Amino acid sequence: MSTQTEMLKSLATCRKTVRRFQTESPIIEDIYTALETVCQAPSGSNTQPWRFLIVDEPAIKTKIRAAAEAGEKVFYDSISEERRKKYQAMGNSWKKPMLEQAPLLLVVAADTRAPNYLPSVWLAVGYLVLALEAAGLGSVTYTPSDAEIVRSALDIPKEFSVEAILPVGYAEDPKKKGDRQTAKELTSVNQWLF
Ligand SMILES: Cc1cc2nc3c(=O)[nH]c(=O)nc-3n(C[C@H](O)[C@H](O)[C@H](O)COP(=O)(O)O)c2cc1C
Repeated sequence: MSTQTEMLKSLATCRKTVRRFQTESPIIEDIYTALETVCQAPSGSNTQPWRFLIVDEPAIKTKIRAAAEAGEKVFYDSISEERRKKYQAMGNSWKKPMLEQAPLLLVVAADTRAPNYLPSVWLAVGYLVLALEAAGLGSVTYTPSDAEIVRSALDIPKEFSVEAILPVGYAEDPKKKGDRQTAKELTSVNQWLF
């Protein structure tokens, strides 16, 4: 295995979702370096339909949390008791303290006028979580239940959809990475065997 292959595999293997962070702010150059890596991702007709909003002002983080939680409350009220309990057991509720606790938020938006904007932006998010990991930064790909409320609260024009908000920082999360099925278990050759 080449060194680059090993490094990439190790980055992907070490990366885990992080929802609790140290107070220390990430170095802003590291964030821009990660975003430069993301801008190398392929996109439909090379339109690069991703846009990033870096948020480190506490008042704006508070605004984002309030907007996100408004949507989460509606969502959690709409689901069955059984499902709510399942989420609760996984540590999930309508409350999203990580949106204020993380030193920095990366809001990922998509230009909905671009061809294939959705797969392109999500491919970029894949690059992003790995690039942040390479910089020693933890993140969580938070997908708001009602992204429209967040878009509007941030005065983002209607042509753009908020796809994800990534709280980013140095990890302080004892949570283990989720187990994975192997490539062998999830791959067949020439014939569909699933
Ligand atoms: C498309 C997508 C949406 C996700 N949405 C959320 C979310 O809204 N809230 C959250 O806390 N984690 C979210 N996650 C993180 C997943 O829960 C996490 O990646 C998964 O449980 C595996 O854990 P690991 O990344 O630590 O291996 C999302 C991940 C992806 C890829």
